[in-house]
Amino acid sequence: MPSPDALRTTRIPLEHGSGAMPAVGFGTLIPDPVATRQAVKTALDVGFRNFDCAERYRNEEAVGEAMQDAFKAGTVRREEVFVGTKLWNTNHRPERVKPAFDASRRRLQLDYIDCYLIHTPYAFQPGDDQDPRDEQGRVIYDSGTTLVETWQALESLVDGGQCRSIGLSDIGLEKLREVVAAARIKPAVVQVESHPYLPEWDLLEFCREHGIVLQAFAALGHALEPKVLDDPAITAIARRVNKTPAQVVLAWAVQRGTAFLTTSTTPRYIQENFEISALPDDAMQEIRDGVTKRVRFNPVVETGVPGFIPRAP
Ligand SMILES: NC(=O)c1ccc[n+]([C@@H]2O[C@H](COP(=O)([O-])OP(=O)(O)OC[C@H]3O[C@@H](n4cnc5c(N)ncnc54)[C@H](OP(=O)(O)O)[C@@H]3O)[C@@H](O)[C@H]2O)c1
Repeated sequence: MPSPDALRTTRIPLEHGSGAMPAVGFGTLIPDPVATRQAVKTALDVGFRNFDCAERYRNEEAVGEAMQDAFKAGTVRREEVFVGTKLWNTNHRPERVKPAFDASRRRLQLDYIDCYLIHTPYAFQPGDDQDPRDEQGRVIYDSGTTLVETWQALESLVDGGQCRSIGLSDIGLEKLREVVAAARIKPAVVQVESHPYLPEWDLLEFCREHGIVLQAFAALGHALEPKVLDDPAITAIARRVNKTPAQVVLAWAVQRGTAFLTTSTTPRYIQENFEISALPDDAMQEIRDGVTKRVRFNPVVETGVPGFIPRAP
């Protein structure tokens, strides 16, 4: 078992990219830019070194400002931080990929991105409207491009040197297999919803076999009902190991070989989520065998429509 402090600084080497991804990650899906900047600052202060962003979150500027503050203050160096961001559905056409990538880099004030993900495998009508709908309110999809064509445009970003690795998000096994089979540069990372109520063991096994890091989002269940953190098996382990339920769930995520993303605007939660320690083997087994509820909180994987981002009024 790794020593308690080692778990929180775990770095997973990228087989299909350069560098290593810190397993403990902070997500920036925070609607308010002022709250985003403050939360990223707190996350950097407590020790997070992996940040997940997206053009769709519309707050990359605020994340960039918080990081620049830390770089300028000398508290953190750029090379110590792993920054990922994502291509939105309306930019899947190959000719739109590089401009979208450069726009994210500009907003984040970064020369290079550690990992660029295709946010979902669904192409939407290209354009500036991130949520294109027809008169009946139905999403307008784009049949003019394939996922593999978009992937090839991401491969060119790696060739260009400003993108250190590429990956996919909100993807199921079937589509992932297709991309892996067609790829010249294999996906380094797959980001999907995963927590004890959605362990995604099959996907994790596939990722292991192909040297892909599975990065779990909603690692705490997004605070939705039924609450993962109130699960009796989790709370019993938390009492036994003298940790919080959140720390148990996040330690489990790292020890089973995934990276995770969690988000909070509450400073004490941000600190708590970083301060994880290794669980004993019997606790790992209890979560695997004893938590049998299965819940997907975010249906984005079925439609490409983000489940946790409210529609603009
Ligand atoms: N690829 C995708 O489509 C996709 C989709 C969703 C998310 N993501 C990424 O994954 C990140 C994390 O997802 P998420 O926001 O669903 O993560 P999460 O950590 O499972 O859920 C966040 C919620 O849990 C609460 N929370 C955080 N720490 C807690 C703690 N220690 N104890 C009790 N409650 C706690 C937060 O409350 P407070 O904020 O009130 O403190 C917030 O309401 C996002 O920011 C985003 O970067 C990606």
